[in-house]
Amino acid sequence: MKAKLSEFGERRRWFQGVLAEAGLDGAFLSSPVTVRYLTGFTGSNSMLLMGASGAELFTDPRYTVQVEQEADAEKKTVAAGVLMNAVCASVKKRRMRRMGFEASHLTYEGYARLGEGLGAKVALKPLGRGLAERRAVKSAGEIAAIRRAVAINSEAYERALKQFRVGMLETELAAELDHQMRLLGAECAAFDTIVASGAHSALPHAHPRPVPVKANALLLIDMGAQASGYASDMTRMALPGKPSRRAAKLYRAVLEAQLAGIDATRPGASASSVDHAARRVLKSEGLEELFIHSTGHGLGLEIHEYPRIGKTEECELKPGMVITIEPGVYVEGWGGIRIEDTVLVTERGCEVLTPTPKELRVL
Ligand code: GLY
Ligand code: MN
Repeated sequence: MKAKLSEFGERRRWFQGVLAEAGLDGAFLSSPVTVRYLTGFTGSNSMLLMGASGAELFTDPRYTVQVEQEADAEKKTVAAGVLMNAVCASVKKRRMRRMGFEASHLTYEGYARLGEGLGAKVALKPLGRGLAERRAVKSAGEIAAIRRAVAINSEAYERALKQFRVGMLETELAAELDHQMRLLGAECAAFDTIVASGAHSALPHAHPRPVPVKANALLLIDMGAQASGYASDMTRMALPGKPSRRAAKLYRAVLEAQLAGIDATRPGASASSVDHAARRVLKSEGLEELFIHSTGHGLGLEIHEYPRIGKTEECELKPGMVITIEPGVYVEGWGGIRIEDTVLVTERGCEVLTPTPKELRVL
């Protein structure tokens, strides 16, 4: 009887089918996320050569022990010096002629080196987005990891807000959020935590400043945790004081847009229809011009991955996809408001994974 394939083995078998269908002898994979997805290896320096006989994983001597402990691959090669040289030697030995590569990851310099190393007899062909599409649909194990990341994320938010005092620096609050995520078991923050108060919150990707958070200033917190390699993503608004009428009005509109986006999230719906549902609400309030980004994005091993939940993204949502729904409005010189949840597409609709309440939190 054949041994049962691991989840990584199943992914590699599927990918071998993709290569065969594309008429390729193999593929050169250089993105660390792809290497992790197909083998489980998390080292910072690796390359993967996929072929009909399986996967050969290349790394350097710093990872001699780790690659044995972590990686699921048919062959593991620890090579001193330039990894690409070892990969090229293996391609020649295996007599591969048509090789796929990750066009969205390999740099021009890497592509040129690969071409030089392999010589004119080997044709290099860009891979399509099959890997990104497969990664978008999460397995039960991946969903469990995202649930853990979400739980850590939300609990850290609660704990950090308990420490908040007017006058605290944005950087101090960001550090407290990160600290709590680590204490709760996160490997790291899934991205640079955003804490932006007052007019600074009008920058969707603001960096926290060593500036005190003032009373009655809008406070935007956008954070994510990483657990077992998988990300969560959440944005919430808080306010140390009383919301102005303008803040209350804009908040209500963004919340309605976010709920409309969630309502539109179901299998068979296009990503663009989710974006339109959120955008329509803001348009009806005359706020469309202030909504300057897409409604959301896929997330998993990366914080931003396929599909984009944007105006023109025709990707059809499928059960198992995990996306964010995060409309926002941004008024230069005044401030910004965004509300974001991590959402799982289910068989019948969707499940909002983020448990944190969505009302404007008065501190
Ligand atoms: N939470 C950061 C982003 O989605 O861009
Ligand atoms: Mn996001």
